[in-house]
Amino acid sequence: MLKVRRLNKSFGDTKVLKDISFEIESGEVCVLLGKSGAGKTTILRCINGLEEFDNGEIIVDNCIIKDKNHIAKYRDKIGMVFQNFNLFPHMSVLENIVAAPVNVLKIPREEAIKKAKDILKIVDLEDKIDAYPFELSGGQKQRVAIARACALTPKVLCFDEPTSALDVESIEKVSSIIKDLRSNGMAILIITHDIGFANTISDKIININEGIITE
Ligand SMILES: Nc1ncnc2c1ncn2[C@@H]1O[C@H](COP(=O)(O)OP(=O)(O)OP(=O)(O)O)[C@@H](O)[C@H]1O
Ligand SMILES: [Mg+2]
Repeated sequence: MLKVRRLNKSFGDTKVLKDISFEIESGEVCVLLGKSGAGKTTILRCINGLEEFDNGEIIVDNCIIKDKNHIAKYRDKIGMVFQNFNLFPHMSVLENIVAAPVNVLKIPREEAIKKAKDILKIVDLEDKIDAYPFELSGGQKQRVAIARACALTPKVLCFDEPTSALDVESIEKVSSIIKDLRSNGMAILIITHDIGFANTISDKIININEGIITE
């Protein structure tokens, strides 16, 4: 579902990604492990079109993405759950979830709302549909961010350190949501420093060090 081939990326004179290649199947969870500064977030940002890359290819659902401009066409195939959630603070939970489907994908509002309600059931937040982000706990915000990404039914979903701000109970909830998404055929890419979480959730682990895949 996702193929990254010989991805290279520099910031100025510093090469931060060196010939990164890996694949994730549909229904597979892949974890990226590595020291701070190894290049993990940069890989996710390249895959999500938030960062230009120097050369290489990203192939999603058989569509080849060769540069950042290209990615707009495939925007709905790839979802990203940011480390700090990036929810819209002035919008309710429901509006956060339906904004992109309605405004970007032009899905009729009623349809988008119905889908949002279904997803909120999955992430166990039906009762927070009208709440604003400031009224939610960290774990709840995280689940809204997952719901928002899922509302676009991406083929590939990326998480940057999804458990770093969560307590044990919230981590278990996020794990079970990720397992549900995997069983529905999503390809999932997760950055984490939490080895325990990586071991319970992953089908494969990629170790990255100074922009190179070491294992
Ligand atoms: N916008 C930028 N401009 C210049 N250098 C950058 C930029 N973004 C990242 N870098 C550099 O690229 C390297 C990789 O950064 P990246 O954020 O991908 O690391 P990471 O593996 O996600 O680390 P962490 O575990 O701390 O989040 C680092 O040396 C960082 O300083
Ligand atoms: Mg990072």
